[in-house]
Amino acid sequence: MRNVKFFGNIPATKSRYGSHYGEKIFEVGRERYREWVPWRSKLSAMIVKGYEVEFSGNEKILYLGAASGTTLSHLADIVDEGMIYAVEYSAKPFKKLLELARNRENIIPILADASKPQEYSGVVEKVDLIYQDLSQRNQVEILEINSKFFLKRRGRMLMMVKAKSIDSTVEPREVFSLVLKEVSEAFEILATGDLEPYHRDHIFVSGVRK
Ligand SMILES: C[S@@+](CC[C@H](N)C(=O)[O-])C[C@H]1O[C@@H](n2cnc3c(N)ncnc32)[C@H](O)[C@@H]1O
Repeated sequence: MRNVKFFGNIPATKSRYGSHYGEKIFEVGRERYREWVPWRSKLSAMIVKGYEVEFSGNEKILYLGAASGTTLSHLADIVDEGMIYAVEYSAKPFKKLLELARNRENIIPILADASKPQEYSGVVEKVDLIYQDLSQRNQVEILEINSKFFLKRRGRMLMMVKAKSIDSTVEPREVFSLVLKEVSEAFEILATGDLEPYHRDHIFVSGVRK
């Protein structure tokens, strides 16, 4: 993948920046790489497991559930010519996200509830991709409403689903099949897969807006 190199089994992103959350830095000649461990990031787990995820580097991305910016910081290394609108509603992780955004030209931090896209519709433009990692019971609904507001025609989405966050009373398999059914109403599903052993009872789903 663009701007990603493996150091042994662990990927790292080529970066002009230093460590954001204590990750190791590797120097290769004049290039600097930030270690991206799969246990800390579902997107890294996808890459380590060999799932296809491609970026051209100039995408506009809406990131829902950016937390303190762990995965966001690597995604910003990958789409270094693009723009990422990063939405997070919890003030504590947002503080660290702000520190990250202060140093990066391609991150716009937004402190808001992702279920209310009208509150940030004046800031976010039409995007090529929605990346969602919210751990919310109604995350499909949140994805759809944001797609209606911001996703380009035939735009892509990549979502991370944690079974327990949606329903802890039934088997993860059942939760995932229900999520896939709901998602397929608005999206053509391109791929899905588990993130074991890095993130238990999680899947990713990627798709294109119908
Ligand atoms: C699993 S964590 C995200 C981890 C992050 N994506 C990463 O890989 O670095 C989920 C985050 O979503 C945020 N979140 C949950 N519901 C939200 C909502 N409705 N609007 C905005 N953020 C939300 C939580 O506060 C939490 O920080």
